[in-house]
Amino acid sequence: MVAIDRTMQKLVDRNEGTVSREIFCNQDVYDQEMQRVFLRSWLFVGHESQVPKPGDFVLSRMGEEAVIVTRDKQNRVHVLLNSCRHRGNKLCLHDRGKSKSFTCSFHGWSYDSTGALVALPYHDGGYSEMAKEKWGLASARVETFEGSIWATWDKTAPSFVDYLGGSELYLRTQLLGTDGSEDGAEVLGGLVKWRLGCNWKVPCPDVDRSHGWMTHKSLSDAFGVGPTGFPVRRGEGGGQRAYAGSPRTYCVAFPEGHTMGVTIPSDDDPNWGDAGVWADKPVIREYLREKYEIRKRRLGTMASLSVGPAIFPNEGWLGRVIRIMHPQGPLSTEIWTYFFVDRDAPQEVKDALSFYYERWYGPGGMTQQDDMENWYNLTIASKGPMARTLDLNYQMRLSEPPIHGPSRFGLPGLFTPLYSDENHRRFYQRWAEFMEAKDWDELSVRESAK
Ligand code: FES
Ligand SMILES: [Fe+2]
Repeated sequence: MVAIDRTMQKLVDRNEGTVSREIFCNQDVYDQEMQRVFLRSWLFVGHESQVPKPGDFVLSRMGEEAVIVTRDKQNRVHVLLNSCRHRGNKLCLHDRGKSKSFTCSFHGWSYDSTGALVALPYHDGGYSEMAKEKWGLASARVETFEGSIWATWDKTAPSFVDYLGGSELYLRTQLLGTDGSEDGAEVLGGLVKWRLGCNWKVPCPDVDRSHGWMTHKSLSDAFGVGPTGFPVRRGEGGGQRAYAGSPRTYCVAFPEGHTMGVTIPSDDDPNWGDAGVWADKPVIREYLREKYEIRKRRLGTMASLSVGPAIFPNEGWLGRVIRIMHPQGPLSTEIWTYFFVDRDAPQEVKDALSFYYERWYGPGGMTQQDDMENWYNLTIASKGPMARTLDLNYQMRLSEPPIHGPSRFGLPGLFTPLYSDENHRRFYQRWAEFMEAKDWDELSVRESAK
């Protein structure tokens, strides 16, 4: 193990725009962030559509720890540590299902869907003095937001909406139905889970727009096909142009560590059904056309707001897909991918979207694999004792102030040009604050920082 002789704020030097490689491979740093970041943050654990009825449950994770997301008889959602209070055995062994209780496979202690200890079989009166109410499963604080479920172990953390720090508009937009309806989305099928050899922070901050034209160049230039199989934009500029984004797209960051790319909406934005990518899928095109018109009536210009919010620390969106980066040690991460679809969409549309998601993000898909290769290789190339002495560079547009605060476009957040490292700098600065702060009092974001 390499000793660290710098403070967290020096490992992440905002003024210099540099980040030490130690934070991506040092075991001491990792152990501290499991305590200081993952025990104190609000973490995405799933969506209500995964547990629609009382008795439903689905497994999830909070950092390294496994949790069970349950819905009890009163229709309340709980997030319970999946570890028996007797001798610590993994309690629930099934990814999802329906059950009134969870019975441990070791000595048979049983818990209900609120986490209460409800049965102690074959003990012959041996627990008569034990206060059973003290031996329920550890239960996290839970809040739901437009159907998404978030949990934290920290009783002193702010409410989830306060934690979002003004970014809730963007997260809410992502979770609406295509027609702009609340509660209109559901998780499609199961999750895609994969493990790769890099630190959990590497894929986290959004946006790294300057990598796409290079990393994913072969996708559009060599293959010339997009996720549906229909040709994507080609010609002069090729991949560069395809990944450049709209001139109305910006990096947007919040002092709370949330980062995203935002395209300013306009009344002239085309109907989503007319996006070229669906030209060979009439069933999706027609569905989107119809729903987008309803969305426009509901949301006006904001109908076309395009955003991919990455909520600190380990949640991020790609289109209508959520990825969660679960740490598994300093050099290992398990990425869980949730695919969303309109709850009331015809089966034909769900099937077509399922194919699209598989082709784009699945195990044999066309993207993420190229990201993974870079993330793995940068890890290998950075963990040696010589490499660790060399800081990483996040200096693009280092001294430029944000273009504007919340007022100019009527949208919240600190905007910088799309080609900028400001989102990364904000993410790592917030990470350093979590690593140094003793409690949530110290983590409160001052108004002057907004
Ligand atoms: S470890 Fe669960 S009942 Fe003993
Ligand atoms: Fe990428």
